[in-house]
Amino acid sequence: MKKLFRLIVLLSIINCQLSISSAYADEGMWLPAQIEGRVKDMRKKGFKLKAADLYSAEKPSLSDAIVLFGGGCTGAIVSPEGLLLTNHHCGYGQIQKHSSVEHDYLTNGFWAANRTQELPNPGLEVRIMIRMENVTEAVAAGRRDETIAAAEQGGRYKADIKPLYYGNEQWMWVYEVFTDVRLVAAPPSSIGKFGGDTDNWVWPRHTGDFSVFRIYASADGSNRPAAYSPDNVPYRPSKFFTIATDGTKEGDFTFVYGFPGTTREYVTGDAVDYIVERSNPMKIALRTLRLDIIKEASEADRATRIAYAARQAGIANSWKKWQGESWGLERRGTVARKRAEEAEFARWAASRPEYAHLLDSLAAGYDRWDDVLYLNELYNETFRAMEFTDSEIDRRTNAALLRGFVEWWPTSVARTPEIIPHVIDSLGGYEGAARHPKALEVLRTEVWSALEIPRVGSFAAIPDIVRHYTPYMRALREYQPDRLFYPDANLTLRIAYGAVSGYRYEDAVWHEPVTTIDGVMAKDNPEIYDYDIPAKLRELYTAKEYGRWTTVVDGRRTVPVCFIASNHTSGGNSGSPILNARGELLGLNFDRTWPGTMSDLEFDPAICRNISVDIRYVMFTIEKVGGAGWLIDEMTFNN
Ligand code: ARG
Ligand code: GLU
Repeated sequence: MKKLFRLIVLLSIINCQLSISSAYADEGMWLPAQIEGRVKDMRKKGFKLKAADLYSAEKPSLSDAIVLFGGGCTGAIVSPEGLLLTNHHCGYGQIQKHSSVEHDYLTNGFWAANRTQELPNPGLEVRIMIRMENVTEAVAAGRRDETIAAAEQGGRYKADIKPLYYGNEQWMWVYEVFTDVRLVAAPPSSIGKFGGDTDNWVWPRHTGDFSVFRIYASADGSNRPAAYSPDNVPYRPSKFFTIATDGTKEGDFTFVYGFPGTTREYVTGDAVDYIVERSNPMKIALRTLRLDIIKEASEADRATRIAYAARQAGIANSWKKWQGESWGLERRGTVARKRAEEAEFARWAASRPEYAHLLDSLAAGYDRWDDVLYLNELYNETFRAMEFTDSEIDRRTNAALLRGFVEWWPTSVARTPEIIPHVIDSLGGYEGAARHPKALEVLRTEVWSALEIPRVGSFAAIPDIVRHYTPYMRALREYQPDRLFYPDANLTLRIAYGAVSGYRYEDAVWHEPVTTIDGVMAKDNPEIYDYDIPAKLRELYTAKEYGRWTTVVDGRRTVPVCFIASNHTSGGNSGSPILNARGELLGLNFDRTWPGTMSDLEFDPAICRNISVDIRYVMFTIEKVGGAGWLIDEMTFNN
């Protein structure tokens, strides 16, 4: 009997530990060099490869087929001749630069018919990681510069040293940097940006968000980078991705391998509280003012819509993301959860003199810097967002932003810069002031100096706060020795793993994980710019001319378009390969679900999902819409 009782206790302990570890399920952006420690868990969830298949400093591994694209996106190499896939929105700038009224590649798409038609892109570079290395000791010993110099081998490579875990570790990343990267293909925007801002950050999604490039290497046959020359030859990667034509289904293991930009997973409740209560509401409200003005003018005039399209998209992308982020954080109760966890940590830290003060110091830091950061952000979202032209839209926007600046002035800071009412009065009120672009530009400078505060972009730039995070992070790792801590994203190569998985969007609403071309057709609307698909796509749909890029959903044969999975991703993961258990290419990551954008601050396994375009929709579009079968011929398929 006693034995049985012991067994029950033991089982319940195990059970409890399981539920703790599952609370962290699918969370994390792991360093390739750390992945060894995760592979057991990955394999339990279906992964079929070994750590060295993902990353190895000595042997070819999947990391060799991934690039940091243009300094803010990711790309996947898919052929032995340097063919590269990334998102349409990542190649957007290049596609736009090659577009003109005669050749409107943005609207109509671009399909090179052979290599000589591929278009060079001055200024665009891609980086392939050669290796990564913990150099904490070398940096502590003052050997930072020589470490970098040795790794760069006289200019052959580019090396960066960046802190991880708030400076508790220093790592070096060594890259080969290619600058001859040519545009090969892009779908029409009505596929590549289908649904526009309305569908942005939203699931269900039907966007074919991809574009195709090719990396070129020196004409001398060395396979090394070279400046653009028509004589350069396609780069021969040591690895490229095999295309998975058999797709995935709910529950299947997936991983995303790419370059997430910035996350802040370990900040205290105070930092999240600032974002939810102060920063996001102000930024969202001020951008709503701007977007309303552009929207009204765009509806009245087509030329205006085109002229303001890029700016509108940029303003709207973050505007919408912040709304989803606040929604997710509030729904999860992240501030209260973090504060409760901190209270427990504080009890543990109380008996440890080196850590006992940390939470108080952090709280004091936030207290002291809250208003400073807020004023910086308020200034950025108003004065720095102004355009000093004679355009009526800009003038109306400036007037609205001037009002917004005064309206969102923090009540906790008594002193408004006197210069503001003074100048506004003398210029004849807000609208009057906005009619004097030069005066407004002067006012912008004056207001900044009247604020008399340091210019800071985020709490991460405030030493008073960051210096306490270094020991705090160390303390957290001691406090929870069994928890595996992944470092915050910093635009270095990471692996996130999870599973294809639907989710409960809201009460009684379940979202299925896969969309199809039938959904594209259901949204198709020639009257609305963002939903007006190419005639060719309608023809293919009517003829059911899908080629081999199909799946069966509810008994009907169709083309899969997008899918969601529980991989932990962030901005910068756009264009990242999403891979199956064997490391074959299932699709390209390009977005997250709306409330799930909270995952930059806390990953909620219930709602955080990344959105990818299914590789079969990419192949279907290349072959059937673009007629670029010669690209398909270069690739390798698992079936
Ligand atoms: N939300 C995605 C990202 O953060 C896609 C943005 C581009 N698409 C758009 N409709 N603006 O980059
Ligand atoms: N669209 C984002 C990007 O360009 C990725 C989406 C996200 O933030 O998860 O990186």
